[in-house]
Amino acid sequence: MSTNKMWGGRFQSGPADIMREITPSIDFDKRLAAEDIAGSRAHCRMLASEGIIAKDDGLKILDGLTAIEKELAEGKFVFKRELEDIHLNIESRLAELIGPVAGRLHTARSRNDQVVTDFRLWVRAACERADAGLKALQLALLGQAEKHTDTIMPGFTHMQVAQPVTFSHHMLAYVEMFGRDRGRFEDAKKRLNESPLGAAALAGTSFPIDRDATAKSLGFIRPMRNSMDAISARDFALEYLAACTIAAVHLSRLAGELVQWSTPAFGFVKLSDAFTTGSSIMPQKRNPDAAELVRGKTGRVLGDFVALATVVKGLVLTYGTDLQEDKERVFDAADTLELCLAAMAAMMADLTAQPEAMRAACVAGFPTATDLADWVVRVLKKPFREAHHISGSIVKLAEDKGVTLEKLALAEMQTIEPAITEEVFKVLSLDASVNSRMSLGGTAPARVKEQLNHWRGVLK
Ligand code: ARG
Repeated sequence: MSTNKMWGGRFQSGPADIMREITPSIDFDKRLAAEDIAGSRAHCRMLASEGIIAKDDGLKILDGLTAIEKELAEGKFVFKRELEDIHLNIESRLAELIGPVAGRLHTARSRNDQVVTDFRLWVRAACERADAGLKALQLALLGQAEKHTDTIMPGFTHMQVAQPVTFSHHMLAYVEMFGRDRGRFEDAKKRLNESPLGAAALAGTSFPIDRDATAKSLGFIRPMRNSMDAISARDFALEYLAACTIAAVHLSRLAGELVQWSTPAFGFVKLSDAFTTGSSIMPQKRNPDAAELVRGKTGRVLGDFVALATVVKGLVLTYGTDLQEDKERVFDAADTLELCLAAMAAMMADLTAQPEAMRAACVAGFPTATDLADWVVRVLKKPFREAHHISGSIVKLAEDKGVTLEKLALAEMQTIEPAITEEVFKVLSLDASVNSRMSLGGTAPARVKEQLNHWRGVLK
């Protein structure tokens, strides 16, 4: 059995069959191909300009890398499991194309700094894609918010009808959440954007490399200060996964609302045929599968975070092959999040709000009971606790009579609190209640329009 042609110098026989199963990462780390070539280019140019390799050799290597890039783009590159990973696959192909001079590329470099350089570049781009996906979703939510500043729906606490709000207000709450999610990716991107390249195996190198030059050419802000940290740190990947997890949790909450809102019992929104599926047995069904899947996939993203955190927690400095487990978790979370963001943005653009159903749902829950209590405080000068009690007793009365607060006769209310006057009816309608919530961030259309203006400015 032959030894590995890239590192097999001191080996007399090849690996056991099971090693061929457990060792290779090429099946997944081929996704780092573009980053690996970018990293090699930067390293090669620096080696040549520092005189560590001859200019001519540098040019040959760069030409070879370009040829490989083309093969990759055309799908002609042959990935080999016996070459373990993307780094050795590319280097070996380079040798096939340009001969032994290819071997000069790995001067002053190790796969340890190479892989984490590639990976940081990949995660950096993933942060940018997450941001774009979140922004598209915010725009879809904003589109609904623009249309529904006057659409009244029940606001819930404990999933009980609490106080009337507008659909616009509800949509904008999610715009805020997804805005913070974007901030988390932005922070993660800023922090990860330092170059590990040149840390070599772990201790640096005896060659006179220029780490500032390679950092700059790869778009990193600066080289990482400590070569051991550069090799072993994966908190950038954890931070990315944490940001993915929180965004996925927010998506899950919104997905849950969609599932609920689209049931016949709520009927708050309608999803078109394009975003629902039928049941194979019940002809009347219209299932919001995509929303359920978005909600369901949250677990995987959190699982990716937990899995990588568990890998890293036990590791002494610096590199251990355990770290090869970092990539699949990040790829899976990125693929999942990007898919969910796209699906959610499409659903939010697709749905049609049902204002009548939303309004009807308010009626059952006495959502203006707080307005009644507030009126008693304002006009009758009672302490709020007492007013709360009066309003509660009136609600009980209305409930017993089977009417809304608005429909309860004044004389009935006066059996609870004789000082109540006709005036009270002004605050008992849904519209009056919504319009009165003028405090900063409140649900009054005038206030919600301020939020809308803010986000229009930020997003457009
Ligand atoms: N495939 C490896 C990984 O993903 C690359 C680094 C390997 N380094 C080493 N010394 N074996 O982490």
